[in-house]
Amino acid sequence: MNNTTVRHFLTLTDLSTEEFKRIIGRATELRAMHHRGEIYEPLKNKVLAMIFEKSSTRTRVSFEAGMAQFGGHAIFLSPRDTQLGRGEPIEDSARVLSRMADCLMVRTFEHEKAETLARYSSVPVINGLTDDVHPCQLLADMQTWYELRGDISGKTVTWVGDGNNMCHSYMHAAKMLGFKLNIACPEGFDPQQRFIDETADSIEIIRDAKAACEGSDLIVTDVWASMGQEEEQKIREKAFRNYQVTGELMALANDDALFMHCLPAHRGEEVSAEVIDGKQSVVWDEAENRLHAQKALLEFLLVQ
Ligand code: CP
Ligand code: NVA
Repeated sequence: MNNTTVRHFLTLTDLSTEEFKRIIGRATELRAMHHRGEIYEPLKNKVLAMIFEKSSTRTRVSFEAGMAQFGGHAIFLSPRDTQLGRGEPIEDSARVLSRMADCLMVRTFEHEKAETLARYSSVPVINGLTDDVHPCQLLADMQTWYELRGDISGKTVTWVGDGNNMCHSYMHAAKMLGFKLNIACPEGFDPQQRFIDETADSIEIIRDAKAACEGSDLIVTDVWASMGQEEEQKIREKAFRNYQVTGELMALANDDALFMHCLPAHRGEEVSAEVIDGKQSVVWDEAENRLHAQKALLEFLLVQ
């Protein structure tokens, strides 16, 4: 077991509210610096080792690009071509990788695996998505909101769709940043009970998507079948058929409401093309902000 003073980022609640806000504010500064072409290399010679047990476009590229821009380096590791895929214990991998790299990132299935990696790592571990939560995405989503609309406390956000990893991280953000989260999901696809218990005062489950969207400031959705649930696709298409974010749903929200989606998206399933490609959608800023938010997170964890 290793250094217990090392900070990890496995869920949003590993941060205080003040730290969460500081990171997203810093992300906006880093975005401006990047757009000005300013060179800023606080992680020169530092290495990030990234374990991906699930597919990724945004998470991989944003961490790799972020490390390169910061003067450091990122290593992509997949179970297909590392000993992790041949059964080397996660505890041993953590001890070895953290003797060589300055930070670890993991995208995996069971959240407990990320926790084990952190327990045995002597350097910070970042959660790049587990079955339970996707905290890096929330840094980018909240950065995007603050940049476009300012403070989010007192606002109403509506989650439409599956009570999945993204939904759980939205629940954490609601509690930490003081917004109300309506969750419109069909019966049988609720968020996990422990997340409901943790955030009960900040959330409300509303079965009717139309009622949930009324008066909302932000509408968010995600795929109906997450990575690892591919064989449930058909059942889920049926269960979620009344939970597509359409122009009709957006019209029930406030006039200046925004639409977010962590991507990848399926037009015609969880969201209509007119919404995701429409004026209220901020999905491209949201995706770009993965880069800036994670650079702010790396700086927070690695630069004293
Ligand atoms: N939103 C997100 O995490 O995208 P990737 O799966 O492409 O990393
Ligand atoms: N809920 C989705 C998010 C992808 C970024 C999944 O876990 O596949």
